[in-house]
Amino acid sequence: MKAAWVMVLGAEAVLLGGESASANTPSSSDRFRDAVFYQQTCNQCHEAQAARKYSDRQWNDLMHTMQTRTALNDTELKELLSFLQATN
Ligand code: HEC
Repeated sequence: MKAAWVMVLGAEAVLLGGESASANTPSSSDRFRDAVFYQQTCNQCHEAQAARKYSDRQWNDLMHTMQTRTALNDTELKELLSFLQATN
């Protein structure tokens, strides 16, 4: 019984984007959420580019350029940037 509650609370923390124990090692559902967020944000004016197209450094520069074209705040920018740098 207790284990089931822990699982439910754990799932909620991921959905709310809250601090979870796995904050430094993204789970597959974090990755999925970031991928959807990336597509929604960066597919509006042009096709969202594949992460592997650019190096970590290039993504860093690109994201700061593209931030001026989107409504991303700094936290969201960092989240997308680390997603791209982790999957390129
Ligand atoms: C409001 C429109 C708009 C949105 C939203 C947008 N972009 Fe762009 N993006 C552009 C335009 C216009 C260009 C081409 C001109 C330029 O490079 O300045 C471009 C170019 C690019 C390029 C190619 C740059 C190069 O040097 O060839 C990449 C990569 C890119 N965008 C990534 C992104 C990412 C990642 C996001 C989401 C955070 C995003 N864009 C959101 C308008 C947008």
